[in-house]
Amino acid sequence: MSNPITLGEFVIEKQGQFPYATGELSQLLSSIRLAAKVVNREINKAGLGDVLGAVGAQNVQGEQQMKLDVYADEMFIKALRARGEVCGVGSEENEDFIVFDEEIHSNSKYVVLIDPLDGSSNIDVNVSVGTIFSIYRRVTPPGTPAKLEDFLQAGNKQVAAGYVVYGSSTMLVYTTGHGVNGFTLDPSLGVFFLSHPNMQIPKTGNIYSINEGNYVHFPDGVKNYIKYCQELDVPTNRPYTSRYIGSLVSDFHRNMLKGGIYIYPKGTKSPNGKLRLLYECNPLAFIAEQAGGKASNGFKRIMDIQPEELHQRVPFFIGSVEMVDKAEEFMTKFS
Ligand code: AHG
Ligand code: MN
Ligand code: MN
Repeated sequence: MSNPITLGEFVIEKQGQFPYATGELSQLLSSIRLAAKVVNREINKAGLGDVLGAVGAQNVQGEQQMKLDVYADEMFIKALRARGEVCGVGSEENEDFIVFDEEIHSNSKYVVLIDPLDGSSNIDVNVSVGTIFSIYRRVTPPGTPAKLEDFLQAGNKQVAAGYVVYGSSTMLVYTTGHGVNGFTLDPSLGVFFLSHPNMQIPKTGNIYSINEGNYVHFPDGVKNYIKYCQELDVPTNRPYTSRYIGSLVSDFHRNMLKGGIYIYPKGTKSPNGKLRLLYECNPLAFIAEQAGGKASNGFKRIMDIQPEELHQRVPFFIGSVEMVDKAEEFMTKFS
């Protein structure tokens, strides 16, 4: 490795870019980095212990909760609670947000929203999963308990966001609004090294990612966009290729590196789509935009949607800017 830079060093080097107090973001990211390593260790040996499979319970969204969903949720919350920067956490796995009210949180200024384990239906079959996180300044005064309004902020208010992909290698990718940088975990050292500086999503690509099994439920705009992706047109490199892992983080990460579009539309089965605005769509939208890409609900910018509830779902179109523009064109034309 020539000139290795660790995630810890990088965060400290760049903390001057952060508009608030020096060190706060570094502390916060170090909680996330630590929890990510612990979760990574558990995922890597998942087949060996008693951590595969379902808990037998459903989460607030009525979805099957996997043991690793619960484990990851606990790890991230524990790591964030152990330091003083965060006054509360909203998690996909918990019905309500959690308020941190110990002495060390009496001056905490941030809230975190998290999908602790994304793609959990893929765990038992050894396919990549992820974590997605989003960080906001609280809007209520420090020293008081965090309130719902601290969590229901539009995505354009995020101060940082990122994801971890537990793949063939484990990567942590984040932004503070000054571009996107990716770090790969060296598991023998337990250290993340800068491997993908200044990540950029290609303006266009030839990958489309959507669960086509739901085709009959899709709106006409999406059906026609899919047809467009499949048509022969040499100058625009069509037909595109179809890739769908079923782990949003992994599908997004691939499209970010190679150029592509990911779509989870609304359907007759799921009137607002499946993905959650606060835990999944906003953080990835922030990263996409910071990497020169785009994220939309088919008609408007994801990050400008004013959230109304914690577990709100939203149709999601994200990836290469020209591809998302084209999909929006179809949505408007056929709506
Ligand atoms: P989660 O595991 O956090 O509930 O998220 C699953 C999401 C996302 O990762 C993935 O892209 C999508 O669900 C897949 O849904 P379908 O199986 O309906 O395609
Ligand atoms: Mn998810
Ligand atoms: Mn999840």
